[in-house]
Amino acid sequence: SAPLTILGIESSCDDTAAAVVRGVAGSATILSNIVFDQTKAHADFGGIVPEIAARAHAEKIDHAIEDALMVANVDLSEIDAIAVTAGPGLIGGVLSGVMCAKGLSAATGLPLIGVNHLAGHALTPQLTDSIAFPYLMLLVSGGHCQFLLVQDHDKYIRLGGTIDDAPGEAFDKTARILGLSQPGGPAVEHAAKDGDARAFALPRPLLGRDDCNMSFSGLKTAVLRARDDVITKYSGIPLAVRADLCASFQAAVTDVLVGKSRKALIAARAISPDVNTLAVAGGVAANGTIRQALNELCAETETIFVAPPLALCTDNAAMIAYAGLLRLTAGMTDDLTLSARPRWPL
Ligand code: KG4
Ligand code: ZN
Repeated sequence: SAPLTILGIESSCDDTAAAVVRGVAGSATILSNIVFDQTKAHADFGGIVPEIAARAHAEKIDHAIEDALMVANVDLSEIDAIAVTAGPGLIGGVLSGVMCAKGLSAATGLPLIGVNHLAGHALTPQLTDSIAFPYLMLLVSGGHCQFLLVQDHDKYIRLGGTIDDAPGEAFDKTARILGLSQPGGPAVEHAAKDGDARAFALPRPLLGRDDCNMSFSGLKTAVLRARDDVITKYSGIPLAVRADLCASFQAAVTDVLVGKSRKALIAARAISPDVNTLAVAGGVAANGTIRQALNELCAETETIFVAPPLALCTDNAAMIAYAGLLRLTAGMTDDLTLSARPRWPL
């Protein structure tokens, strides 16, 4: 089939993004991938403020789209469809993207395609590494944590996931507890480099159970308690002890993710015996220790390990454009009644 050129738009969290992707199902190229992040806008608040996020998206989305078209060196007449994240996410942000995409679609007559943000993450390994369905996906970000058996672009089986916090949230809270900067993941990972991962005995919740569910909120509480003990003992947090606590926390998250990935591989193969790939996506998949440990699990279980480049692990619009390409290929387009959905399970 002829290559398709898709404009993707993403605004469901704190990144305003637009991208152009060209190709066919299973073999597509990223022509541009523009991401404006809002870290600075939220810095004073210690977290994402939905109202500020929505406003920032509305202000920047046109620029992101202009830049994406310019960098890709295509104009709208060369685009085959407009794909936009229609959920799940912060509704104000999702609405900014959906309204913008509807306007473009109405003005140009181009097909409009609503994409599930999680599908975008889950399909990224196909965009970067052209791996075939079915595969096992571990999606780990600030808001999500789940194992998905990806059978096709619109066919997912959820094998398990967190029953409370996402691991990225736990990294962010641990950073806050220990006085490190946000986003917490990179800060904790950096601090952990000099630490001893065995210094603090932190819990590995649900690890002993045979299912693929995880829990991270108890871990955060344990870090809080350990910090208070440290402060009582040293009347402060010595840098070396902070490094130990970060390393111990990171080791606990890694053990849970690896242990549950082992169980998820078994569960996935019980459904589809031909699953030979474990792919990761989401911001937490940027963590070197976690990647390394998953890589070792895969070597041991004769599984191919796929970890997209960091820029495509975190929120971006190239993944939305690619998911849109697959939907367009399957004839699945939307019309101007497309709605923005704050919650939208795969
Ligand atoms: O996928 P993402 O960019 O946004 C969504 O949550 O959808 O993920 C952001 C999360 C944050 O919680 C951040 O602290 C975490 O990913 N993160 C990391 C690392 N880099 C980002 N966590 C652990 N290690 C990292 N190197
Ligand atoms: Zn995301």
